[in-house]
Amino acid sequence: MDYSLSSKKSLRGDITIPPDKSLSHRAVMFNSLADGNAKISNFLMGEDCLSTISVLRELGVKIEVSSDSVITYGKGINSLSEPNKILDVGNSGTTIRLMSGILAGRNFECTLDGDSSIRKRPMNRIIKPLNMMGAKISANNNNENAPIHFNGGNLQKIEYELPVASAQLKSALILAGLRSENGIKINEKATSRDHTERLLSNMGADITTDGLEITVKPSEIESRDITVPGDISSASFWLVAACIHKDAELTIRNVGINKTRSGIISVLERMGASIEFFNEKDYSGEPACDIHIKTSYLKGTEISGSEIPLLIDEIPILALAAVFAEGQTKIIDAEELRYKESDRISLTVNWMKKAGAIVEELQDGMIITGNQMINGGTFSSNGDHRLAMTLGIASLVSKDNIIVNNPEASNVSYPGFWEKLNLLGE
Ligand code: S3P
Repeated sequence: MDYSLSSKKSLRGDITIPPDKSLSHRAVMFNSLADGNAKISNFLMGEDCLSTISVLRELGVKIEVSSDSVITYGKGINSLSEPNKILDVGNSGTTIRLMSGILAGRNFECTLDGDSSIRKRPMNRIIKPLNMMGAKISANNNNENAPIHFNGGNLQKIEYELPVASAQLKSALILAGLRSENGIKINEKATSRDHTERLLSNMGADITTDGLEITVKPSEIESRDITVPGDISSASFWLVAACIHKDAELTIRNVGINKTRSGIISVLERMGASIEFFNEKDYSGEPACDIHIKTSYLKGTEISGSEIPLLIDEIPILALAAVFAEGQTKIIDAEELRYKESDRISLTVNWMKKAGAIVEELQDGMIITGNQMINGGTFSSNGDHRLAMTLGIASLVSKDNIIVNNPEASNVSYPGFWEKLNLLGE
């Protein structure tokens, strides 16, 4: 399928963004391992989170799904049973990595696999420490690529320094640590999203965080009803749209603003965005608020170091903001972006160059010259949801029409994105 999109004269509206993807995965996974029933309200019914539900069901967990909520019937941390088939995670990196921590050292065999993008993504980063703990896990290409096969083992304590600032890796190890003989101690290089630590300790797990060090002791967990806030990664498309459009004013509701996720807000504020926050609320231990944002005069900036993990998924859309900012924007220390659903450095640089922007590709990022514009043309999402939506936002401000090939990739995290884009503004 292709969409042909043209720019809009003005952008006004009130937007309720989809529920947070990271939190939806965690809420259903952890409650499936808990003792007791739980209702997860405002659950993201995107393809990735539905993959998590189908994997858990294959492992014997009873889960009921209605239009926007999920009920889990957990029977405890050791209750999973041997599946009858290969566990398919689809396109979801969070599912394959967190489930690996959950499946390590179980008393049954099973295999996790996914689509062609998942099969290219690095898995040795999780397999290596899990095997050091005593799991018996193997995978293709020297344990680098899915399918990943689990063959029992007995988990023991390790002390492990994470080689990359990855919340998926950290979470896999925390989940294995809950079931290992003496827990686990993990050191992070830089802070990555902390939803796992927050939610598990809220559910009664013994987890302590001291700076960049996380200590987990073997624990059972209790079920918790959870309401998921809106996803800041999905909000980021509208945040940038409002800033770069010449006549825009948007209100975005219930945006999760956990500090380990809100790097995009700090960067947009630094670039000069006209942004206000109100109606702060607590969603099951996660802060959220409404955001008012309008047309802004942006300046270029540098995004680097420990800021990168706090906005890792927002770099493709921030790169678009940089095209419309005064001066240069430099994004470095972001090589991780090459190992996401696609190589997001190369694909972002390529589509922007093709659209007439001046961008230089670096191994770990890019340098974008500001004060440019975006021409029209035909671009592919390459099956990557965040690139599909970045192209959609680019169409709002492009000189000529933008044609997006494979736009439906956005369903992974944002069902309804294109309908909202169509309805918004004129
Ligand atoms: C996620 C963590 C991030 C992010 C991904 C979701 C999570 O990946 O890119 O979209 O839910 O833990 P890494 O932590 O591996 O960088």
